[in-house]
Amino acid sequence: MDSETLPEECHAIVIFGATGDLARRMLWPSLYALHCDGLLPPDFRLIGTASSAWTDESFAERVKKAILESANSKMYEDAAFASFVQRLRYVAVDAKDPEGMAPIRAALGDSSERGVIFYLSTAPQLFGPICRALGASGLANGHSRVVIEKPIGSDIASAHATNDAIASAFDESRVFRIDHYLGKEAVQNLLALRFANAIFEPLWNSNTIEQVQITIAETVGIEGRWAYYDTAGALRDMVQSHLLQLLCLVAMEPPAGFSPSAVRNEKVKVLWSLRPIVGADVGQQTVTGQYASGFADGKAVPGYKEEQGANTTSDTETFVALRVGIDNWRWAGVPFYLRTGKRMQRRSSEIMIQFKSPPYNIFSGIGAALAPNMLLIKLQPEEMITLTLMNKQPGVHEMRLGEVALNLSLGDAFFKGRRRIAYERMLLDVLRGNPALFVRRDEVDAAWQWIDGIEDGWKSTGQKPKPYGAGSWGPSAAIGLPERYGHSWHE
Ligand code: BG6
Repeated sequence: MDSETLPEECHAIVIFGATGDLARRMLWPSLYALHCDGLLPPDFRLIGTASSAWTDESFAERVKKAILESANSKMYEDAAFASFVQRLRYVAVDAKDPEGMAPIRAALGDSSERGVIFYLSTAPQLFGPICRALGASGLANGHSRVVIEKPIGSDIASAHATNDAIASAFDESRVFRIDHYLGKEAVQNLLALRFANAIFEPLWNSNTIEQVQITIAETVGIEGRWAYYDTAGALRDMVQSHLLQLLCLVAMEPPAGFSPSAVRNEKVKVLWSLRPIVGADVGQQTVTGQYASGFADGKAVPGYKEEQGANTTSDTETFVALRVGIDNWRWAGVPFYLRTGKRMQRRSSEIMIQFKSPPYNIFSGIGAALAPNMLLIKLQPEEMITLTLMNKQPGVHEMRLGEVALNLSLGDAFFKGRRRIAYERMLLDVLRGNPALFVRRDEVDAAWQWIDGIEDGWKSTGQKPKPYGAGSWGPSAAIGLPERYGHSWHE
């Protein structure tokens, strides 16, 4: 067993923020699905906590509504839900106060001496106080584990403070920091694609690869989260976590095995190798934008500054594009273009790997241009892997060439049943004590250190986001970023 894998099983989960948005949309529907699939231990208990007073019955009604409104709604059945409710309790707590933890201890009964998962689905400023209270109350013991949602801090200093508070109650081996992108099937498949096939590895380096692009484009706006989002922006909200995690999986060296330490050791080395983008470099290597009014999914939508609760002078970026260098032997000279934005033209998360053109075009004499080969890994909404190859167009005329795509639809190949919510896998891994798909403290530090350099650069150079219409692909300057280096975005 890997030194980072925990040996014992858990008997209960306590969800702080049990009536909040994340718990409603993801956690209760995921736990219900695990229950229906027989994946929760028979005596596993579910305790919801928040500050408001609810009875067990009224809370169970809320949970039922959450399941019915979720992606797992089709799994709902009265009998299954009745047995799920047998596991469920609600207790109101003042989570910052060690004395306030008493109702949780009472609800846990003897489970509190066995393994308990504490899931912090709360505002980030409560992470530290809750962990301290769990430590002081004795609930955080050698059998418990804690799950923390992002964001962990808003820069390296605040991340240190939060991680120190977590560490005061939980050993690092018992801390599970969620990046829900790592729970997505297509993201995990990246590891299989790279390390379970022999054909890619010899090509996976600067000798053969021209450029890599990672895009997470969303059509949604800030979804009523102004208070959080305006202090974060696209760089902290998406790049620091999801995009850097994807970049790590694409760029990492083959790990010695599939153990949590082996995988995470390789990921953190990529983060340490990111070339800093600091000072005046930000003007060359980054483009920021903020959405103005426009159309999304066919409907007229307001601009960022007109969102509910907005202040009209905000300079927070809702779009960012970056040209990133990785300073190591494998990737020297290969640009990684990262891009994410709200209110973009289309929802699309994808990784595009463009190979170098053939060294010499023997067909140039007959006027045939060669498009470089491209490996496109689509993560969502559909899960698809496409490899484009040049082929001869059939016919008796002079040689004509055209690009043909080899398409592998992961949906058609594998998914005969329902598509799982990413949190189902993540919760099960916490239960089993397997931290491979969770972010280790040193990864958080390395990611923030790099992100802080960019934020400082924007401040010192006064770089402000450029407006872009909702429903576009971001500000026009974003198009120019790869073009300056002879590349263009894959759209
Ligand atoms: C979250 C961000 O982490 O990820 C949100 O805070 C973003 O702003 C979301 O919308 C995107 O996740 P997904 O799974 O919908 O791509």
